[in-house]
Amino acid sequence: MRSFVTGAAGFVGSHLCRRLLERGDTVLGIDAMTDYYDVTRKETNLAALADWDSFTLRRADLLDAPLPQLLDGCDVVFHLAGQPGVRPSWGSEFAVYAERNILATQRLLEALRDVPLRKIVYSSSSSVYGDAESYPTVETMRPRPVSPYGVTKLAAEHLCELYRVNFSIPTASLRLFTVYGPGQRPDMAFSRLITAALYGRRFPLFGDGRQTRDFTYVGDVVDALLAAAGSPWTGVANIGGGAWISMAEVISLVGALVGRPVEVVPMPVQPGDVRDTAADTTVARQGFGYAPSVPLADGLARMVESELALTTGR
Ligand SMILES: NC(=O)c1ccc[n+]([C@@H]2O[C@H](COP(=O)([O-])OP(=O)(O)OC[C@H]3O[C@@H](n4cnc5c(N)ncnc54)[C@H](O)[C@@H]3O)[C@@H](O)[C@H]2O)c1
Repeated sequence: MRSFVTGAAGFVGSHLCRRLLERGDTVLGIDAMTDYYDVTRKETNLAALADWDSFTLRRADLLDAPLPQLLDGCDVVFHLAGQPGVRPSWGSEFAVYAERNILATQRLLEALRDVPLRKIVYSSSSSVYGDAESYPTVETMRPRPVSPYGVTKLAAEHLCELYRVNFSIPTASLRLFTVYGPGQRPDMAFSRLITAALYGRRFPLFGDGRQTRDFTYVGDVVDALLAAAGSPWTGVANIGGGAWISMAEVISLVGALVGRPVEVVPMPVQPGDVRDTAADTTVARQGFGYAPSVPLADGLARMVESELALTTGR
């Protein structure tokens, strides 16, 4: 199989590339190496893929890359490139979100109209739901994003559906619920929390700690991406980890893992933050056999281990 991975240098993209290479795919990754967070983290992700001759990275922006040429001969596209982050998506930064999440997706879909593709899997987000009407949330519930980021992810998801219905491009949009694991983006809560716990720093906690999230281990997300790509299923599906837990409980868990309690700095809830998320994953299970397998405590322990290995060079 020849796979095309957008956002290959990012957190989820680099985990996916590794698994594709391990199973013997030829992988063409594309990444603009945006500076939303420290680019050296992306360089490190790429360095870990450099051992495979079957991996090529094209440093380019989806907004102006020669896509028809790059997509020629590809069997499957995994579209993970995008501008993540809920809180910074207000104000003038919205233009960046619109470009990287909406326009880039539309340009990719246009380029795919003439490509005989098995599947394009798009990484949508639980942020499309906003504060959902009920939990666990099903895909048919009316999406009501509460952040500009969520609006752009929903727009891109609608574009995938439009191109599927009108031009028979086989699209699968997976609504990922808070992904965590080794190499998680440094702006995300687990990453900041583990660093704070390990180095005795205080952790700024937005809200009262009782907000809950459905956390999904990155290995389970990669399983979902691969299963969706390999099945005839198309449409929109939730991908959650099945562990709905409050931030306060996560903070205790991390404290126990590193052997000292984490000191919290209370901060107000930020505009764009939802109160709770919880995924009903029946569609993914029935559509392509998705079944998350990594319990939160194990996934967190792997994150702590990998952070320690990074700092001690082991
Ligand atoms: N991490 C999560 O919890 C989560 C949850 C829901 C959805 N998602 C979605 O999954 C995808 C991957 O998330 P991540 O956490 O790995 O983010 P990430 O920022 O680590 O990876 C995204 C990559 O896309 C690249 N990129 C951005 N715009 C580009 C463009 N126009 N052309 C080429 N490359 C571009 C960036 O340089 C980056 O390396 C994103 O689309 C995100 O919205 C992530």
